[in-house]
Amino acid sequence: MSFPDDVHPDTRLVGLGRPPAEPDGSVNPPIVLTSTFRGSGHPAVGDRVYARYTNPSWEPLEAAIADLEESAVPGLAYASGMAAVAAALSLVPVGGVALVPAASYNGTISLARDLAASGALTLREIDPLDLASTRTALEGADLLWVESPTNPLLDVVDLPALIAAARERGVVVVVDNTFSTPLRQRPLTAGADVVVHSATKYISGHSDVILGLLVAREDAVRERLLRQRTLHGAIPGPFEAWLALRGLRTLGLRLDRAEANALELARRLDGHDGAPRVRYPGLPTDPNHTRARAQLDGFGAVVSIELPTAEEADAVVSALRVFTPATSLGGVESLVERRRRHPAEPCEVPEGLVRLSIGIEHVEDLWADLEQALDRAILTTAG
Ligand SMILES: Cc1ncc(COP(=O)(O)O)c(C=O)c1O
Repeated sequence: MSFPDDVHPDTRLVGLGRPPAEPDGSVNPPIVLTSTFRGSGHPAVGDRVYARYTNPSWEPLEAAIADLEESAVPGLAYASGMAAVAAALSLVPVGGVALVPAASYNGTISLARDLAASGALTLREIDPLDLASTRTALEGADLLWVESPTNPLLDVVDLPALIAAARERGVVVVVDNTFSTPLRQRPLTAGADVVVHSATKYISGHSDVILGLLVAREDAVRERLLRQRTLHGAIPGPFEAWLALRGLRTLGLRLDRAEANALELARRLDGHDGAPRVRYPGLPTDPNHTRARAQLDGFGAVVSIELPTAEEADAVVSALRVFTPATSLGGVESLVERRRRHPAEPCEVPEGLVRLSIGIEHVEDLWADLEQALDRAILTTAG
């Protein structure tokens, strides 16, 4: 579908990746179940060749995410967010230097540490909120990894400053944009080289798909990533790609609602008696608020609260009834998790931190659930 240049992203979401407008044509792209493609004439091969190289079921999704991230080259779909993370880290040459925040999503930092342990790369663990030390660490580096807002601390880094510092030194910048989605932040337009998504989260939006996406700014980088994907083979199934595109259509609606819920709940939690510390960049009292306002088109729908101890945090999680106790985020249903229950969770994350992925339920039901859980947990652990 072709749009006038100025249509709103919510409109683009609905129309992107549709088949060509033909009489009797289907409105949605088909799910193509094939492992191989006919040649364009014996003995010549066609363009697609083999379904590990590309698949017509991925292509509409790859075009849509590139459009939303404002890249001129198509995105690339992967079997999972972690497959996309691994592909992006493969941009570091063997023995090269990667800067990865110590408080990154635990899968990312664990993979970077494993790669370092095997000698594939040299890892410099950084605190991207500390610009001066990050600038020093950038000397002689090959790749800078940035996640913003971070999972689950919800810190917002100074993306323009980090990108500028990296570019001055010829360092490739990869931004994990899972929490913001392209509706709230477009790192490629600020000069990042590659954007990563766990499309498992907001893009698919219904907790029924595992899928990853990468979008490069330049064709040469995309070509390297495409070769890596083809040879490593971490490709998504056609049905998963189709579901992710279907989920993407409602991203605007879902995010608006979940974000409005998150802001309201964060405010109420902040004012609650015996309030836990609330981490949410949308709160004016949050140390990330000013940067978030300058850089993001919305504050997202994850709120983290910090209870004094793991025991109190576990008591809150157990007392919730509307929130589902489960890992992951970005679905229509609200999820809750004490993150340090994962042994791999970075030690920067406090033991009593509870991550709330706010869904699209009615805000009063979510608040009533949180309020009763906090009150019960405080009574239980005090008694
Ligand atoms: C910020 C972030 N990046 C990457 C991933 C990995 O994605 P996946 O679980 O789809 O492999 C996750 C998963 O939680 C995440 O939160």
